This record gives sequence, C-alpha cells and structure tokens, in this order.
Amino acid sequence: MSAAAALPGSVVVGGTPTEVAELAACWLVERSAAVVAEGRRFHVALAGGSTPQRMFDVLASPRYRGGVPWDRWEVWFGDERACPPDDPASNWRLARDHLLGLVSVAAEHVHRMEGERADLDAAAADYAAELARLAPPGLAGAPRLDALLLGLGTNGHTASLFPGDPALEVDTAWVARSRADYAPYDRLTFTFPTINAAAAVAFTVCGADKGQALRDVVAGTAPAARVRPVDGALTWFLDSAASTAAG
Ligand code: 6PG
Repeated sequence: MSAAAALPGSVVVGGTPTEVAELAACWLVERSAAVVAEGRRFHVALAGGSTPQRMFDVLASPRYRGGVPWDRWEVWFGDERACPPDDPASNWRLARDHLLGLVSVAAEHVHRMEGERADLDAAAADYAAELARLAPPGLAGAPRLDALLLGLGTNGHTASLFPGDPALEVDTAWVARSRADYAPYDRLTFTFPTINAAAAVAFTVCGADKGQALRDVVAGTAPAARVRPVDGALTWFLDSAASTAAG
C-alpha cells in the first residue's frame, strides 16, 4: 500500500495544485450547503500558509462567488502568526486579499486571531472564548466547527502545532500560543481538542517536499498525525507530486 493510501481518513489525489484547490473548494461548498440546509450558520476555520491561496481564488471566482450563502458563513482561523494584520505574513491578510474581501461575508462574521497583541496568552484566551460562545458545542464541550481546513508543513506540523512545542500537549484550552521553527516564530493556534472536535477536517497538501511529512503522518510521528476527528470526517487532498513523493 502506498503511504498516501495509508493516510487516516479519505484520500483524494488531484493532478495539479489547481486541481487540488478546485476539489477542496467543491468539498467546502458542499459542506456549507449541507449545514445551511439544516438552518444553521456555517462555522469554517481557514488554514494558513501559502497552499490555501489557490482555493481562496477558486472560491472567489465567478463560479462560486454568487452561489455560496456567504451571509451564513462564520469564518475562523486555525492559526495566525504574531504579526500585525496588514503584515504579508498574516494568514488573515491572505484570506482577506484572496477571498474575504471579494465575497459577501460581513466583517462581523470574520473572526481574526489578534496576533499583534503583546499578550498572546490573553489573545488566545479571548479567541477561544469567542469561538466557544458562537460555535455549537461538540463532544467534551469543545466548540465544534463544521469544516476545518489544515495544511501540512515539511516537518509534519499543522496549524501552528510544531514538533516538540508545548502547545501540542495543551488539552485544557481551545486556542494556545505556540512557537514555530521559522519566522514569524510566535504564533496562535487551535489545539488538538478543537481540531478533533470538528465535524469535517480537510488537509490540502501539495508539492514533492511534503512527501516525508506524509510518511511521518502515516508512521504517527508527525504532529499532524494527531489530527483524528473524534466524531467527524477527515479528508486529505493531495496533488500528484505530494502523493508520489510520499511513496
Ligand atoms: C501557517 C500554517 C501552516 C501551513 C503549513 C503548510 O500558518 O504557516 O497554518 O500550518 O499550513 O506550514 O504551509 P504551505 O501551505 O505554505 O506549504
């Protein structure tokens, strides 16, 4: 069995990063439609890094821009860098520039992690409190997102949960400060209880440089291997380069 096929959950392999973005966008829109059809608001947490940009561009394209119930979306972020919101490193800024500023999600329904604050522990606590106040409760009382998007770092991190960082072990808070091994070093991140309370989690992973990280997920040694939704679906969207490199 190939490493990619051995990943936990479902695996969808697209050829190119653009095809992965289209597959992930379709998945997200389908999740949105299902939740809105139940009469609920759609609570979605966006991933950071560079991979999500293509998916944001697809969602903001004419194909989706007019057909998604944006006014029913409640947008969260799985992690953020400790930087001002207008910093090029900001995950919020990437989402604003490529999606949120282009579709009709009202500003009050976009919940930005305040990475610019000097007291990141307080910023984490405030974000967790807002998430718990607005999102439906899941098992063990964790806020339950309807959809949670994640990326995978070459060292196996996800969100801003990096190898060896104490945030990996936080199980009494929904959001924590953490430390990356590349700048911006200080971060805010969902913890595993929050990630694993989600109803649906999707990784989008592109590029041959993610092959070892995917193997480490299968081996259980990567932080991302701890993403195991307790009562939810896990899907991996890989491009052919990442899938092939995984072996
Ligand atoms: C971040 C992300 C991080 C990212 C991975 C993959 O803030 O950097 O949350 O977990 O998803 O590092 O990043 P790329 O998509 O740029 O490869």
